[in-house]
Amino acid sequence: MIICRTKAEIRNTVRTWKKAGETVALVPTMGYLHEGHLCLVRAAARKADRAVASIFVNPTQFGPGEDLSSYPRDEKRDLSLLEAEGIHAVFLPSVEEMYASAGDTHVEVPSLSGILQGALRLGHFRGVSTVVTKLFNIVTPDFAVFGEKDYQQLTLIRQMVRDLDMPLEIIAHPTVREADGLAMSSRNVRLSNDQRAEATVLNRALDRAEALAAAGSSVQEIDAAVRSCLAEAPSAEVKSVDIRDAETLAECSSPFDRPSVVLLAVRFGTVLLIDQRVIAPQT
Ligand code: PAF
Repeated sequence: MIICRTKAEIRNTVRTWKKAGETVALVPTMGYLHEGHLCLVRAAARKADRAVASIFVNPTQFGPGEDLSSYPRDEKRDLSLLEAEGIHAVFLPSVEEMYASAGDTHVEVPSLSGILQGALRLGHFRGVSTVVTKLFNIVTPDFAVFGEKDYQQLTLIRQMVRDLDMPLEIIAHPTVREADGLAMSSRNVRLSNDQRAEATVLNRALDRAEALAAAGSSVQEIDAAVRSCLAEAPSAEVKSVDIRDAETLAECSSPFDRPSVVLLAVRFGTVLLIDQRVIAPQT
C-alpha cells in the first residue's frame, strides 16, 4: 500500500497506473474508519483496477462550535485496516498541503447546500463540495464511492458532477447497518449503552415509513407515523423528519409516483444520528 502525503505523490502514483491503462476508484473519508467505510473500499476495489482512499478531516466543513478539534482520529489503525483490505494507495494530506494556495475559490450547489441539514449547518456543504472537487482534481479517479447514509451529501455531489461535467462516475453504496439495524457511524461509539439500545428506533421508523408508503399512505400520514415511532425512544430528540424527492430533494407529495427518500436526524444526548431510506415509486 502506497502512502501519499502530498498531492504530487498521489498524482504521480495515479498517473503511472493510468499510463498502464488501469482504472482508479476513490473513497473519500475523514478517517476513524469502521466497517461502513470498509464496505465502500471493497466496492471501490470491485469497480476499478486500483482503489485509493483519502483520509482528511476537512476543516472547512465544520462550523464554529462543531466538533473539529474533538473529531476522532486514529491514523495507525486506519492504515492497518486499509492495508488489510488490500487497498493500493492512501492519500493523507495535512491541512497545509491540502489548502496550500490559501485562496478563496469555492464550489457550491446552492439549491442543495442550504436546505435540510445544510440549513442547520451553514457552510457545511460548501466545504464538502469544495474539498471533494479538490480531491477529484488531485486524484483524478474514474469512480468515486459515497455512502447513501449521507444522502444529502451524495445528492449534492452527484448534482455537482453533472453540472460541472466532471469526468467520473459516482457510485452510491447502500447504508451499512449493525445486526440490529443501526446505521454504522463513527458517532455510534459516543452513545451510552441505553442510547445505543434506543437508537435502533431510527431503522424501525424507516421500516414503518416504507410499509406505509407501500400501503398507499400520504406524506402527512407517514410523517406522523415516523414521529410517533421515534417517540417510543425516551431519550430521542427528533431534529427533523423529511420526505423528499430522492433525486432533487424537493418536497414531494402523495402519491409517491417517483422515488422518494425519508431522511431522519435524531439527537441522543450530544450525539446527532442521521439515517435514510429510499422508497420506490408506488405504482
Ligand atoms: O463524508 C465524509 O466523510 C466527508 O464529508 C467527505 C466526503 C470525505 C468530505 O470531507
